[in-house]
Amino acid sequence: MSGRPFLQIPGPTLVPERIVRAMSQPIIDHRGPKFEALVHDCLQGLKGIFQTERGRIALYPGSGTGAWEATLVNTLSPGDRVLACVNGFFSTGFARTAAAFGVDVERIEVPYGASVPAAQVEARLRADEAHEIRAVLVVHNETSTGVTANVAAVRAAMNRVSHPALLLVDTVSSLASIDFRFDAWGVDVALTGPQKGLMLPPGMAILAVSERAITVSEKAKCPRSYWDWQPVFERNRRGQFPYTPATALLFGLREAIAMINEEGLPNVFARHARLAEACRRAARAWELPLLCRDPAEYSNTLTAVAMPPGYDSDAFIAHAYRRVNLSLGVGLGDVKGKVFRIGHLGSLNELDLLGGLAGVEMMLREFGVPVKLGAGLGAAEEFLLS
Ligand SMILES: Cc1ncc(COP(=O)(O)O)c(C=O)c1O
Repeated sequence: MSGRPFLQIPGPTLVPERIVRAMSQPIIDHRGPKFEALVHDCLQGLKGIFQTERGRIALYPGSGTGAWEATLVNTLSPGDRVLACVNGFFSTGFARTAAAFGVDVERIEVPYGASVPAAQVEARLRADEAHEIRAVLVVHNETSTGVTANVAAVRAAMNRVSHPALLLVDTVSSLASIDFRFDAWGVDVALTGPQKGLMLPPGMAILAVSERAITVSEKAKCPRSYWDWQPVFERNRRGQFPYTPATALLFGLREAIAMINEEGLPNVFARHARLAEACRRAARAWELPLLCRDPAEYSNTLTAVAMPPGYDSDAFIAHAYRRVNLSLGVGLGDVKGKVFRIGHLGSLNELDLLGGLAGVEMMLREFGVPVKLGAGLGAAEEFLLS
């Protein structure tokens, strides 16, 4: 099929030409001075993206799932209790990974479409007078539902009851797209991957780690070898890795950080917020409900849209792919077959979004959903011109 594919899933996102070019160069010696400078630039740049001065960055070849494991095995011991906020497919996965290491996982579970209830976290921590809960697990942006958690509110809840648990936050689909403040929100470990807001191909696990988490890790007993962050910190400090690194991705990462800084982090957030609102207006004009219940928690990186009863979203997504080379996110977990997800993150502008929305609208109509052609697109355009 000619023309570009419309990769409108909530990550991986399309990799901009500038990053592709930065990665298209000969691989350098990963023990040489050029590599040392590359690692230094990436570590320093990521600190800016995580909005941290005090956090340390650990980089691994891997994926977001690996970053969950790295976060958990470095901070916890088998038998430790954690409080996991579960409101979708990925927060379920984060909690399940902890359980796989023998951690005693207590879940605060809310239905898909709802956000992390900070008041419930507070009540549970207040009741934990013996401070048995070692960590609170939060997914900042639940990619399966399009709901953004209020991490600052969770931190405030923890502070109000003076609870010493670590705050461990998944920022896989929020970092570099939705405001995330490692220092200001008192986060202990933030984890992410490169394939969403950072606009890179998949293939890395990235952590920001507080001094407190590093201290706790010295006594943490979960088995770990590859994900042990101590040798990573030690070698990264000298511009190296304890193993062969993902050199090409690091070339790309340095370029991605430069692009984000040229645009300015606040402008990157504002662009995502604006495009997300245009997308929501389109969904409203199609008269299709959003999965996210509370407008204050709408995600600015993706929108999960419910299909009308009787229409299977998996079949719709397959149809859109076959017909117009448009990739949409499938419904995951509890909402499999019921929703489709429109990704609007990473390297994306107004016309990219409108092209994707035009595809969704045409395909909905062709699939038999009675939408008025032009309604969603018009609503999005009106908003973008307002
Ligand atoms: C919020 C969140 N956490 C974790 C993951 C897992 O990341 P990966 O697929 O890179 O292993 C994803 C993937 O989409 C995600 O959206």
